[in-house]
Amino acid sequence: METHASVALIIGVTGMLGLSLAEALKKSTALGGPWTVYGVARRSMPPWFSPYLVDRYIECDVLDSNATQQQLPPISKEVTHIFWLSLNASSTSEEENIARTSAMIKNVLDVLVSRAQTSKVRHFTLTTGTKQYLGPIFDPVLSKQVIPHEPPFHEDMQRLPFINIYYALEDLLASYSSNFSSSIHRSSIILGASARSGHNALLTLVAYALISRYEGSPFRFPGNKFIWESFFDASDADLLAEQQIWAGNSDKTKNQAFNCTNGDVFTWKKLWKLLCEIFGIEFVPFDETDKFNWVEEMKGKGRVWDSIVEENSLVKLKLEEVACFEICNVVLHMQIQHVCSMTKSREFGFYGFADTFKSVRKWVERSKEMNIIPKH
Ligand SMILES: *[C@@H]1O[C@H](CO)[C@@H](O)[C@H](O)[C@H]1NC(C)=O
Ligand SMILES: *[C@@H]1O[C@H](CO)[C@@H](O)[C@H](O)[C@H]1NC(C)=O
Ligand SMILES: *[C@@H]1O[C@H](CO)[C@@H](O)[C@H](O)[C@H]1NC(C)=O
Ligand SMILES: *[C@@H]1O[C@H](CO)[C@@H](O)[C@H](O)[C@H]1NC(C)=O
Repeated sequence: METHASVALIIGVTGMLGLSLAEALKKSTALGGPWTVYGVARRSMPPWFSPYLVDRYIECDVLDSNATQQQLPPISKEVTHIFWLSLNASSTSEEENIARTSAMIKNVLDVLVSRAQTSKVRHFTLTTGTKQYLGPIFDPVLSKQVIPHEPPFHEDMQRLPFINIYYALEDLLASYSSNFSSSIHRSSIILGASARSGHNALLTLVAYALISRYEGSPFRFPGNKFIWESFFDASDADLLAEQQIWAGNSDKTKNQAFNCTNGDVFTWKKLWKLLCEIFGIEFVPFDETDKFNWVEEMKGKGRVWDSIVEENSLVKLKLEEVACFEICNVVLHMQIQHVCSMTKSREFGFYGFADTFKSVRKWVERSKEMNIIPKH
């Protein structure tokens, strides 16, 4: 097989962003292309993932150094760009998250850079997020102590005095700065299509909408009044992919961090109306006095989801595989306007944007085509 001069290795290719990246790199117009695309994922290829998106699909848990040393050498002398989308950050201990994710990165770089006598790796893009500015909002204890930066968030805002996986990974990459350049991409809530992303907020809300519709129960907003009314932003996975490919092909972007959001803002109230319209359900205005425990309620809906899957012949996935109610619930109870600035990105020459509501519609459609949610 002929290998192109630009060779991408996507770690986490079956997630929302991995899918968008593989698609973007395979376009004939892709910057720096044509590209050879290798994709790594922990599990076997899911039925909704097109095999044509990658030149090779490598099933490998890169947290396992032995497996990494066995699986990656065949491509180790070819890879020019690493797109890192995979974090192991599910533990409540940030130390553990840092240790695991750093080990994953080191395992891969060990094969592709340190042991490869002729490493071609030129650039490494790392996707992180606005926890950079918000601090440990998902930590039950620390979240009460943290004073987040005031939005809009700027790239050069100083680090908050709390342990943060994003800071640790930036430092880890900086330690390789004599070997290759890197760029950091800080996303907001990612809008994309995948049933293999750890946190797919859109799919979580869609699952909730579908369950409400199936049961004929009101589609109540589970968050607080502040979030219902205030501005928020999101990041289309295609836009993130576009920014990362741009950053990997420009000299100016070396060792820089960029926000990556759609460039517009939305309110959850309007997003709720949009979801109601898309799924044909009645819009119920937010009622502050109507208290309910959304996460607990959803824990009991596994059977309802199973029925929806069964009746629509969807890809067999459990509710806990498609939805992340706990994380969404934290986001929906924030007391801060979540708005990033895209100015730095534009100053450096990236002008991409997305219309958030169009992107919601697009990814809902894609999820239907992928048979993860019902067509009707
Ligand atoms: C990795 O390989 C080494 C040497 O073969 C072995 O001692 C070790 O147990 C292996 N570790 C895992 C996690 O399989
Ligand atoms: C993270 O690492 C733990 C410990 O090895 C493992 O059990 C878990 O499946 C990993 N999660 C992800 C998302 O890789
Ligand atoms: C990075 O490059 C330097 C200089 O070429 C080399 O000495 C070092 O071993 C490389 N680091 C790694 C981790 O491969
Ligand atoms: C990201 O957005 C925030 C909020 O507007 C801003 O403070 C921060 O400087 C931006 N960061 C970058 C890298 O552009």
